[in-house]
Amino acid sequence: MSLKVVIIGGGSSYTPEIIEGFIHRYNSFPVTDITLVDIEAGKEKLEIIGQFARRMIQKAGVPIELDWTLNRQDALLGADFVTTQIRVGGLIAREKDERIPLSHGVIGQETNGAGGIFKALRTIPVLMEICHDIQQICPNAWLINFTNPAGIVTEALLKYSTHKKVIGVCNIPFNMKNSVAEMMNCSANEVQIEFVGMNHFVFGKRVWVNGQDITDRVLQKLIHQEVDYSPANIVSLGWSKEFLQALGMLPNPYHQYYFQRDSVLEKDLQAYRENGTRAEVVRKVEKELFIQYMKEELNEKPKELENRGGAYYSDAACSLMTSIYNNSEDIQTVNTQNNGTIPDLPNDAVIEVNAVITRDGPRPIAIGQLPPSIKGIIQQMKAFEELVIQAAMSGQYNDVYQAMVMNPLVQNEGVARQLVDELLEAHKEFLPQFN
Ligand code: G6P
Repeated sequence: MSLKVVIIGGGSSYTPEIIEGFIHRYNSFPVTDITLVDIEAGKEKLEIIGQFARRMIQKAGVPIELDWTLNRQDALLGADFVTTQIRVGGLIAREKDERIPLSHGVIGQETNGAGGIFKALRTIPVLMEICHDIQQICPNAWLINFTNPAGIVTEALLKYSTHKKVIGVCNIPFNMKNSVAEMMNCSANEVQIEFVGMNHFVFGKRVWVNGQDITDRVLQKLIHQEVDYSPANIVSLGWSKEFLQALGMLPNPYHQYYFQRDSVLEKDLQAYRENGTRAEVVRKVEKELFIQYMKEELNEKPKELENRGGAYYSDAACSLMTSIYNNSEDIQTVNTQNNGTIPDLPNDAVIEVNAVITRDGPRPIAIGQLPPSIKGIIQQMKAFEELVIQAAMSGQYNDVYQAMVMNPLVQNEGVARQLVDELLEAHKEFLPQFN
């Protein structure tokens, strides 16, 4: 029986990680075919990754056929799972998302604030087209999306695309669980974290190890910076005792942008003036990775891939596909539609939540009402995300302006206007809905 996975954005430097994930899980997820897809601009990288992935598969000795193509429609024929890891406009666009806000004294980050808004505006229409193709060519396939901003993109697809088999994943909950496991010297399977919120805005409400509530212990370790689950793209500034004790929950690393805004801004502005933003760091890391990937003798994922912030995303993605395939009914953290899981949020909102994974998709585990301490900010962030999706679909200036001015990292009507004007101009090639 065939089991085909199509990786859209296959020329990404992250791809060797997902290939490794399939190799490791071959016994429980016996993939027969993998097709890597990319666009003309990514042709060279696609070729390098394709050759390297074949060497990895050969070394592992698993019977997986791997191919690559620029023809997405052809690739989708017979697909059972499709993953998306694309960056519309590439690193050049990311650099603009980071630099333009910083030049106005506002945080410039690719999934948060002004930068995140424009990444969503560029990405949603492309993912809509991909979903359209899936619906036409392989309607039974699951789309596993890790294209950022993953939560917003997943919500847009579930609201407006006709293809409904869409699940979003992120490495942050996975990293948080793994760090707790490391701290407790146990396996990640023994750790449970009740996640509440949205992608890159999720809180760990309670933490258990083998059924024992260890939330306070983890908070103590966080206070003393003895546990750190920040990805490579975020420098951890640590949290104050007062904040963590009052919150009583685990913040995720992206919360720094909101609750330590001035310190993060200061640090990012300094980097922007001195050595450039994260896009520039990533450019260097990628360059070195591709030099390695080209080496004929390399047939395993190099350690240096851990210098990317998204490292281990593929564990989340591969585990999810394996559990759907096997109808495992285990619990994983995914981005999926709320449908009453958190009564304080709309039913059609996408949330990041623990869910039972079945062959029919995720069944989110009820959370109940939001704790009062985070209810306001979560509702505000969700309302903001809705505005971004509205703007991506309508292509109306007023809609994107509204989203910009209502974002907690901007909230200044004059600056918001300047940002919208400059970012619309900078990205116009990738924003056909606004032209
Ligand atoms: C994090 C996020 C990912 C994001 C990545 C960026 O871990 O969870 O969603 O893609 O970092 O990493 P990069 O190496 O591109 O800065």
